[in-house]
Amino acid sequence: MKPKEITNNLFYVGVNDRQKELFENLWPLPQGVSYNSFLLLDDKTVLIDTVDVCYSDLFLRKINAALNGRTLDYLIVDHMEPDHSGSIRLLRQQYPGVRIVGNSKTFGMLEGYHGITTGLHEVKEGDTLPVGSRELHFYMAPMVHWPEVMFTYDPKERTLFSADAFGTYGTLDGGILDTELNTAPFMEEMIRYYANIVGKYGSPVQKALQKLSALDIQTLCSTHGPVWREHLAKAVSTYDRLSRYEGENGVAIIYGSMYGHTEQMAEAIASALVGNGIRNIAMHNVSKTHASYILRDVFRYKALIVGSPTYSNQLFPEVESILGKIELREVKKRLFGYFGSFTWAGASLKRLAAFAERMNWEVVGQPVEQKQGLKVATYDACMEMGKAMAAKLNEQ
Ligand code: FEO
Repeated sequence: MKPKEITNNLFYVGVNDRQKELFENLWPLPQGVSYNSFLLLDDKTVLIDTVDVCYSDLFLRKINAALNGRTLDYLIVDHMEPDHSGSIRLLRQQYPGVRIVGNSKTFGMLEGYHGITTGLHEVKEGDTLPVGSRELHFYMAPMVHWPEVMFTYDPKERTLFSADAFGTYGTLDGGILDTELNTAPFMEEMIRYYANIVGKYGSPVQKALQKLSALDIQTLCSTHGPVWREHLAKAVSTYDRLSRYEGENGVAIIYGSMYGHTEQMAEAIASALVGNGIRNIAMHNVSKTHASYILRDVFRYKALIVGSPTYSNQLFPEVESILGKIELREVKKRLFGYFGSFTWAGASLKRLAAFAERMNWEVVGQPVEQKQGLKVATYDACMEMGKAMAAKLNEQ
């Protein structure tokens, strides 16, 4: 086992998780996920973040191999969520002298999760830690996406350790650096990861990005996914766009449909969009597509069209559920269209209207309501809504 050297004397000691089905027990991991950890060997030895406790044994063996007989002087904890802090207690048992570097919020969580209160080295915004030929700088990044999050910067190697920021789902299969991997799937998964995990915190992400803009960064080490170097600018610009809630030109159409009648409305709207020049359309049946992927497309595109049957005088339950997740994330600036159906008493349309109002989104086109099966008039109305949305997108 020979840990890979990322830059001068910086070794990758993270692990791949191909076992877990759901990240945070919520979000599907069809291609797994990596928990990244980095070991710097200078006059002092410095570990940056740990891994999920399920992988502690492999992780500790990797560190031991990289240290090659030396002891561990520092552990920097950039983020306390247990996928990164889970191995701290065992690490401390193996290296009792290791000093743990974090901020005051880190230490509150460290005590709460691990009962560790000694051997701590507290840092604040702008503090530095000399470790030999270089000194490490610390920048607080609260609420990206937990309150204790901080970034660690090595000016000598122009390397930033960014906690979850710029992270992606997907294991690192053979390579660690983006120069060694096909980055297209990771870029796609970066959007899904952002929408699932970080999406609510656009404003704190923007503040963090402003801080980073003053730094010269050549290597970007997130706690998940590839180490960014060649595609670093793209990773940063993706985060910038997502945290401004700026969507691409395109439409996410999400609908519930028990017997296919509401789905036929969605099909009509989609065909009008395509007929009027829109090429990026992501259609999701909420009963089939996991919310993780729907959220990805809500963050990706600037327009959202939602359809729901009336169900027990409410929205269709799965539509209600995804709208709650969108609202929780405070998604801004979407162009919104909506439609609904009912058999004896309609309720979905007024609930979708209330949702649009709460989100403060611009409603485009005339909402369409259908009683029972699709009629020519409602089909035409759906086509009109699609046309109106296409016109709005085409003028932007
Ligand atoms: Fe990857 Fe917020 O933990």
